[in-house]
Amino acid sequence: MVKIHGTSLVMLSLLLGLGMAEKKGTVKVGAVLNLGETVGKMGLSCINIALSDFYLSHSHYNTRLHFTIRDSHTDVVTAAAQAVDLIKNEQVQAIIGPITTMEAIFMINLGSKAHVPILTFSATSPSLSALHSPYFFRIAQNDSAQVNAICSLVQAFGWKEVVPIYVDNSYGEGVIPYLTNALQQAYIRVPYLSAISLSATDEAITKELYKLMEMQTRVFVVHMTPNIGSRIFTIARNIGMMNKDYVWIVTDGMTNLFNSLSSSDMEPMEGILGVRPYIPRTQRLDDFEVRWKRKFLQDNPTLIDTNLSVFGIWAYDATTALAMAVEKVGATNFDFQVNNVSSNIDDLDKVSIAQNGEKLTEALSNTKFTGLGGEFNILGGQLQASIFEIVNVVGGRGKSLGFWMPQKGLRRNLDTKGPGMYSASKDNLGPIIWPGDTNSTPKGWEIPTKGKKLRIGVPVKPRDGYSNAFVKVTHDPSTNSTKVTGFCIDVFKAALEMLPYALPYEFIPYSSSNGEMAGTYDDLVSQVYFGNFDAVVGDVTIIANRSNYVDFTLPYTESGVTMVVPIKDIRKKNAWAFLKPLTWDLWVTTSCSFVFIGFVVWVLEHRVNNHFRGPPLHQIGTSLWFSFSIMVFAHREKLVSNLGRFVVIVWVFVVLILVQSYTASLTSLLTVEQLSPTITDVNQLIKNRMNVGYPRRSFIHEILKDMGFHESQLKTYHSAREYGELFAKGNANGGIVAAFDEVPYLKLVLGNECSKYTMVEPRFKTEGFGFVFPKGSPLVVDISREILKVTQGDKMRNIENAWFKKSNCIESSAGISSNSLGLESFWGLFLIAWITSLLALIIFTVTFLYEHKHIWLHHSPGTSIWRRIGNLLKIFDERESNSHTLKKSDIESRSSHHGISATETSPSPSNQTQSNFSLYDEQMFNPDNNYINPCGHATHY
Ligand SMILES: *[C@@H]1O[C@H](CO)[C@@H](O)[C@H](O)[C@H]1NC(C)=O
Ligand SMILES: *[C@@H]1O[C@H](CO)[C@@H](O)[C@H](O)[C@H]1NC(C)=O
Ligand SMILES: *[C@@H]1O[C@H](CO)[C@@H](O)[C@H](O)[C@H]1NC(C)=O
Ligand SMILES: *[C@@H]1O[C@H](CO)[C@@H](O)[C@H](O)[C@H]1NC(C)=O
Ligand SMILES: *[C@@H]1O[C@H](CO)[C@@H](O)[C@H](O)[C@H]1NC(C)=O
Repeated sequence: MVKIHGTSLVMLSLLLGLGMAEKKGTVKVGAVLNLGETVGKMGLSCINIALSDFYLSHSHYNTRLHFTIRDSHTDVVTAAAQAVDLIKNEQVQAIIGPITTMEAIFMINLGSKAHVPILTFSATSPSLSALHSPYFFRIAQNDSAQVNAICSLVQAFGWKEVVPIYVDNSYGEGVIPYLTNALQQAYIRVPYLSAISLSATDEAITKELYKLMEMQTRVFVVHMTPNIGSRIFTIARNIGMMNKDYVWIVTDGMTNLFNSLSSSDMEPMEGILGVRPYIPRTQRLDDFEVRWKRKFLQDNPTLIDTNLSVFGIWAYDATTALAMAVEKVGATNFDFQVNNVSSNIDDLDKVSIAQNGEKLTEALSNTKFTGLGGEFNILGGQLQASIFEIVNVVGGRGKSLGFWMPQKGLRRNLDTKGPGMYSASKDNLGPIIWPGDTNSTPKGWEIPTKGKKLRIGVPVKPRDGYSNAFVKVTHDPSTNSTKVTGFCIDVFKAALEMLPYALPYEFIPYSSSNGEMAGTYDDLVSQVYFGNFDAVVGDVTIIANRSNYVDFTLPYTESGVTMVVPIKDIRKKNAWAFLKPLTWDLWVTTSCSFVFIGFVVWVLEHRVNNHFRGPPLHQIGTSLWFSFSIMVFAHREKLVSNLGRFVVIVWVFVVLILVQSYTASLTSLLTVEQLSPTITDVNQLIKNRMNVGYPRRSFIHEILKDMGFHESQLKTYHSAREYGELFAKGNANGGIVAAFDEVPYLKLVLGNECSKYTMVEPRFKTEGFGFVFPKGSPLVVDISREILKVTQGDKMRNIENAWFKKSNCIESSAGISSNSLGLESFWGLFLIAWITSLLALIIFTVTFLYEHKHIWLHHSPGTSIWRRIGNLLKIFDERESNSHTLKKSDIESRSSHHGISATETSPSPSNQTQSNFSLYDEQMFNPDNNYINPCGHATHY
């Protein structure tokens, strides 16, 4: 049953169940396959097995498919001609198998015109869907279904840039818009698209790969057919692109055929990743594979090594679906309406229209069954996407790493249970061997340097500059080497240490031949923009204008621009500062208390203590002297009455607290006065046309101009010395009255000279210092992350301590206004003192009155009340004679007088005493020590 039409036509009639077939309705269908290639051969064998399997199990069906097979010779024109011939002359009702996308395009249009369904099992380009033909059925996954799987894979490893490499035809291009779109939605950059022609020479491929090698990206997605793909990988391996740090991901175009590729083709692909549609292993599939292998070897004895691929499975399912659909439509009416009989076979315009085309299409769309490749369900003319398998080429074979599911993302197993969240985590994949036979995940990019090291520009500071602590470049002539040190350098090194990968670098001072900085900081930053440096590390402030040209890492210092002015010494000008600590009411209260306590002590001591006796003025003097000398705890008078001692102890306590508070308050007042700045208002400077300074070549110039300073007001400085000189000169002599600078520098300066200058508001916010990288550099994100770790950890404090002297200045520019101590803080104390004193007075009075009750109780009639009070007062004024304290103090006083007069001829002790109090005590004392009561009651000892 084999007819041969010329040499190029192979017609195989595969009518099975031959005898019965004559009775059953035969329906003619065609197949256009490239029989010279493995995929075509595999397709053919699968179609054959599918037919025999199907009619064996469905022998009662009324229809039988009759296949006419044509070879396309992998040529688009031949394939087209065969399809036209099949429709026109063979009047086939459906065609299976344009193998390639290019062949498919014409056939789909033809099928659409002739109402002949076209079924493909291997043309996967999504661009075919754009033809919108209802007669086109794709029994395969379209290529765009896998882009999300690839995207998740790229995300899982945190790669930020991907370069797709694709074959430059409609198959290759078809997926690119979908791929770039998916990647961009995941914020993954596609900096370049590399299209390689199917007919490219090895030289052309090598050239293109070298170009990729010089770029930064190290992640490549290869969308190729295996024949050209294998060539590319062989060349890539030869030029060193299959080494460590490279990542290759291949689409299902190659992954599907991994198990059919020869080991010499697979060998260069060690370590690459691939995605492919997942076909669940079933018993039925295993059985089929065995039968297929047997049949395939029968037909193609030379292709021993070929293994079944997913395309064979889809060919089997496509054939089954077609047979089912044809049965559904029935055997009748499979004619063509020959709308215009033409003798010219090549007249493409005049194809007949299949009468049952529409019905067959509908039947096909509704066909559902469990095929070899899983559930067969056509929606919108294509097989629905399912699960993709991620594989890693290890030892020349694809090793499964895990799966990608549309709803769940990457998963190690197909277990549908477990958390339902979409996940793109590399932890869900098995262990991977990367190109270069390494386990460590490539970082996905490389610095595109000609040399191997990152060239980092560093600013060069003037030797005596105050900012040398940030960056300092020292040249050692003996070794002809340059050393770069400083705070910024240490922060950078600390961040690099934490990077998960090594980053070789060298510091290059940005200096001119005379050793000075070759330009401004803006110029230094532009060097990165122009590509002369790969980065800049130093005290470079992050400002908006600069970020138009370069990318900054996160800042690693706090910052801002602020004004610094000299301090005015207010302390000297105020002679009355000592009064300020206490408010006037406290002063008054305190003074009154002194007088009062003096009085109380006098009352209590007057009768028993010789110190408080004598002429009235003397007594007043002694009392006040005693009271006030307590203030400095210099009172020398001995107290003899317990009440007096009690009062004084309480008072001493009060005075102690008052004095301490006064001292503290005075100290703090004087210190606050010290920090008072000379100028606090910027507008005052602008209005009065006073000069201000800023660091030479600094962006602060722009800020000052924006604030309204006139150019003539602006002076520059660039070292601590110059800065001091300018301030010293003063406004009139071309000096400055205020300077503007960045906070980190000012802290450095003020740390040394905080008694001379102080920072005052306003503070203009800037973002602090950051490291500079070219725009889009992947290092920015990585280093920023490490900077955060450094600044949040202990490391930053250590680095700061190493470079910046601890400032001794008290950070208090916030106005502590005059906080004099008021009565409200102390009235409790005074209350205690006064109550104690009053209590003592009362006790004394009561005791006194009780002792002398005979004077005011047993009075002879006629003595008036005034006289009696007068008598009492007289007694009070007298010395108490029966007091042991008096005796003691008397003896003491006598002995002390003895001491003084020891050199003289000693008079009698009684005389001595008497002479001391001669004015008052004449009547009260006699030599016999008899106390003479004025009322005649004598007490004799
Ligand atoms: C086909 O599969 C077998 C076993 O699965 C394997 O040994 C053989 O290498 C495969 N052939 C090719 C060409 O990969
Ligand atoms: C067939 O073609 C002829 C010219 O070749 C034309 O006159 C005629 O109308 C066509 N018939 C149909 C049904 O299109
Ligand atoms: C490709 O297949 C996926 C999954 O079946 C589908 O969502 C998508 O629309 C298809 N794309 C095209 C262009 O047909
Ligand atoms: C020092 O090194 C520079 C370049 O690194 C070179 O040009 C110069 O000749 C060297 N000088 C000496 C004395 O080796
Ligand atoms: C921004 O920086 C560029 C280059 O450094 C400079 O030419 C330009 O004048 C700056 N623009 C402003 C507004 O500062």
